[in-house]
Amino acid sequence: MLALKVNGRDYAVDAPDDMPLLWVLRDLIKLRGTKFGCGIAQCGACTVHLDQQPVRSCVLPVGSVGSRSITTIEGVGETETGRKIQQAWLDLEVVQCGYCQSGQIMSAAALLSRQADPDDAAIDAAMAGNICRCATYVRIRAAIKAAAK
Ligand code: FES
Ligand code: FES
Repeated sequence: MLALKVNGRDYAVDAPDDMPLLWVLRDLIKLRGTKFGCGIAQCGACTVHLDQQPVRSCVLPVGSVGSRSITTIEGVGETETGRKIQQAWLDLEVVQCGYCQSGQIMSAAALLSRQADPDDAAIDAAMAGNICRCATYVRIRAAIKAAAK
């Protein structure tokens, strides 16, 4: 059994060390807001936080998590930064199909937690690994700036 802390709650999961964290979250813990896109760390749909750092959970073996705290889209709104990001997403109606958006929000929240007022270059650098096939990039950038105010 592996001990994990997810969104402030303790879990014991029966999973092999090499199982990707994404499968553990979705299939064993039943937190399905984190999405599978590419499975090879290229799209960002599976982004979660480990101790506030964004990681691609589709390629992260659960055995490497250790004692670090995991935050998913279901829990990020419990933080002040996450709450502001989610409200800005609603206010600016960022979402189109929505599939990529939990990953987008997790990357945006990680950015604002380490840099309170990022400029365009910093936003673009932080969000470059999150792909949106609906091309909501302009609204995402605007929402990050709104949340930063
Ligand atoms: S599903 Fe993990 S980066 Fe695409
Ligand atoms: S909102 Fe559709 S993929 Fe991003």
